[in-house]
Amino acid sequence: MVKKNQKLVFSGVQPTGNLHLGNYLGAMKNFVDLQKTMSCIYCVVDLHAITTFKNPTELRGNILDTTAGFLACGLDFNKSIIFNQSSVSGHSELSWILNCVSRVGWMNRMTQFKEKAGKNKENASVGLYVYPNLMAADILLYKATHVPVGDDQKQHLELARDIAQKFNNDFKSVNFFPLPEPLIQKKLSRVMSLRDGTKKMSKSDDSNYSRIDLKDTKDEIRKKIKKAKTDSSPIPEKVSDLSNRPEALNLLNIYSFLTNSNLEGTLNLMQGKDFSKFKEALSDVIISSICPIGEEINKLKKDKSYLIKILKEGTLKASEIASKNLKEVKEIVGFV
Ligand code: TYM
Repeated sequence: MVKKNQKLVFSGVQPTGNLHLGNYLGAMKNFVDLQKTMSCIYCVVDLHAITTFKNPTELRGNILDTTAGFLACGLDFNKSIIFNQSSVSGHSELSWILNCVSRVGWMNRMTQFKEKAGKNKENASVGLYVYPNLMAADILLYKATHVPVGDDQKQHLELARDIAQKFNNDFKSVNFFPLPEPLIQKKLSRVMSLRDGTKKMSKSDDSNYSRIDLKDTKDEIRKKIKKAKTDSSPIPEKVSDLSNRPEALNLLNIYSFLTNSNLEGTLNLMQGKDFSKFKEALSDVIISSICPIGEEINKLKKDKSYLIKILKEGTLKASEIASKNLKEVKEIVGFV
């Protein structure tokens, strides 16, 4: 049970396809580090996944795959609460209440909705539009204080803070919801697409060659890195020389992060080399950190009942905190 005023970490990952290097380096690696020192709740956010239509059989498979991914990356269900969002009804209940606190003007500023809805906004689901309110509900349902995420979720986190603040003010409940702090990796907050260094690596990109999936084999990783877009210049000496070379910068950033170095250190080591040589070294470090995770995911996936058991145990623990907090919210709002 979480004690009053205790620091609490919450984060979520959508079960919408294979987990990739961006999810791992931008968020999940941090999840694992945080569980060593803080109480943590990690959620497979299946309610978020259906904001665009998902085939039910595939969704079921992806929920278990993402759970396997959590465990394979090093999350320990004895230390962290691991569960899926739809199994704790408080997420949907609080989300409705927060829909009534959040403002249309705030929603209209959300860049991710604009990107995902594209040109055909009128045809996007209402769920996709109010998705950030559900994300705020996920966090506030547990009164979480810290939220590890990649840089792309920063705006949603700012919104969650605004909603928490407005709820506390509207209902004169000073400090009822803590204002959640984003925890964003400084060294690698956004892993970019291997095909276009100005776009983030994403599950929804049509090209498989744009990302490294955690389940990719050694050969697939080598092939994808070999094909990764770069430019014709060799690796420069100075960081400032990378300012107009987004693809080169991305690959060098990934290498630096995985070798516990920094960009300066990597440039010292690699300057003057052409990219084909560097790409071999990069493939090696990606393979050694990713392939053991992929192999573990494949192993865990074979035992569906084990994964379901872990989610059920997590659901019980999450529900205990959620129902207590939701009861307080309902009293504050004035429900009888
Ligand atoms: P999702 O499922 O898109 O991504 C899961 C996590 O991975 C991070 N991430 C990246 N980090 C760096 N580079 C990338 N290319 C990259 N791609 C993804 C994301 O920032 C995220 O941390 N809305 C969230 C899920 C969510 C959530 C929450 C997160 C729902 N409720 C409450 C935190 C708290 C999302 O779609 O993440």
